[in-house]
Amino acid sequence: MHQVQRRRGSPSTARGQPSLFGSARGIRIRPATVRDLETLRAHRRGMFVDMGVAPSRSLDGHDRRFIPWARARLRKGELFGLIAESRDGVPVASGCVWLREDQPRPWTERERSPYIMSIYTLPEWRRRGVANRIVRGLLRACRRQGYPMVRLNASRMGLSVYEGLGFERTTEMRRWLDPSRKRAYFSKRRG
Ligand SMILES: CC(C)(COP(=O)(O)OP(=O)(O)OC[C@H]1O[C@@H](n2cnc3c(N)ncnc32)[C@H](O)[C@@H]1OP(=O)(O)O)[C@@H](O)C(=O)NCCC(=O)NCCS
Repeated sequence: MHQVQRRRGSPSTARGQPSLFGSARGIRIRPATVRDLETLRAHRRGMFVDMGVAPSRSLDGHDRRFIPWARARLRKGELFGLIAESRDGVPVASGCVWLREDQPRPWTERERSPYIMSIYTLPEWRRRGVANRIVRGLLRACRRQGYPMVRLNASRMGLSVYEGLGFERTTEMRRWLDPSRKRAYFSKRRG
C-alpha cells in the first residue's frame, strides 16, 4: 500500500504561500439538516458535472433518486453532512458522511463504516481551504463517534485535498460487468 506523507498546517499555508484567491475566513461551517437537501443535491450534481462522469439526462434521474435517499438516511442518522456558508449565507461548499452497513472486520466491532461522499466547493470559492475544513470537520465527527477509519473514492480534483489530510491510496479494485456503461459514463471523465 502506498503511504502518502501527511501535510499538516493550515491549508492556506500548506505550500508556504500566501493566498492568491482570498481566504476561507468568514466561512461558517455548520451541520446539514433536511432543510439543506436541495443544496446537497445541487452540490452533488455539480460534483458529477465537474468530474465529467455523466450526461445530464442521467443526472436528472440521479437527482430524483438522491433526494429521498438522502432524506431517509439523514433522518435515521445514517447520513450527516456539513455546509460551508459565506458571510451572506450562501452555501459555498458541502460534504457528507454515509454510515454504510458493513461486513464484520477484525479491526472494529462496529457494523457500519463511514464513507465520505459528495465533497464539493462552488468554483468561485475553490483554493481557499474550504473543502479542507469540511473534510477535517467530517473526520472529527467520525472520530468522536468512535469509528477507527473512514473511506472515500477520490476524484482527480479531490486527491490532493485528501492526501494532504493523511488519506492513503489502497488497492481497491473494480470490474465493469457492462463495459458500454463505462464508456458512456467515464469517457470524458475530467475529475
Ligand atoms: C475537489 C474540491 C472539492 C476541492 O475544493 P477546494 O475548496 O478548492 O479545496 P481546498 O481549497 O481545501 O484545496 C484545494 C487546493 O487549494 C489549495 N489552497 C488551499 N487554501 C488556499 C489558499 N488560501 N490559497 C491558495 N491555494 C489554497 C490547497 O492547498 C489545495 O492545493 P493542491 O490541490 O495544489 O494540493 C473542488 O475542487 C471541487 O468541488 N471539485 C469538483 C468536485 C470534486 O471533484 N469533488 C471531490 C469528489 S471526491
